[in-house]
Amino acid sequence: MVPTVLVLNGPNLNLLGTREPEHYGRQTLSDIEATMRAHARSIGFDIDLRQSNHEGELVDWIQAAHESCVAIVINAGALSHTSIAILDALLACRIPIVEVHLSNIFRRESFRHVSYVSQAARGVICGLGSQGYILALDAIANLVNKSDVP
Ligand code: DQA
Repeated sequence: MVPTVLVLNGPNLNLLGTREPEHYGRQTLSDIEATMRAHARSIGFDIDLRQSNHEGELVDWIQAAHESCVAIVINAGALSHTSIAILDALLACRIPIVEVHLSNIFRRESFRHVSYVSQAARGVICGLGSQGYILALDAIANLVNKSDVP
């Protein structure tokens, strides 16, 4: 069976393509999904990409992830900066986590400079637009295939 990476996207990321393109670019989430799926296949993975505007739904998906997925890529959107519930779910999760932000959160408002998600992530990629999701898949491949990586 092809190992699956869960790709979680939080609030307002369903609006990609039209939402503040100066921060988030012009690609839609479907565009990103298609590019990710193709890249994932080329490195031996499948993806399960989901988006929700609801914190509890994201928590439910994180809790269930270890049953069917080998790793999580997560852009929790604004919930990155506020949600201890998502942090706790990620901390309970026994698979590697890579955090992605399309924009460089450190060049923006100070309330975006702190991410709770980062405390559970093996690595964080931000500011590189949709390429960040692809880089996250490459990082996951490395983490999953080399379990000795610290
Ligand atoms: C974001 C950055 C967050 O601060 C913001 O709330 C988002 C998107 C990003 O991908 O750059 O919704 O996570």
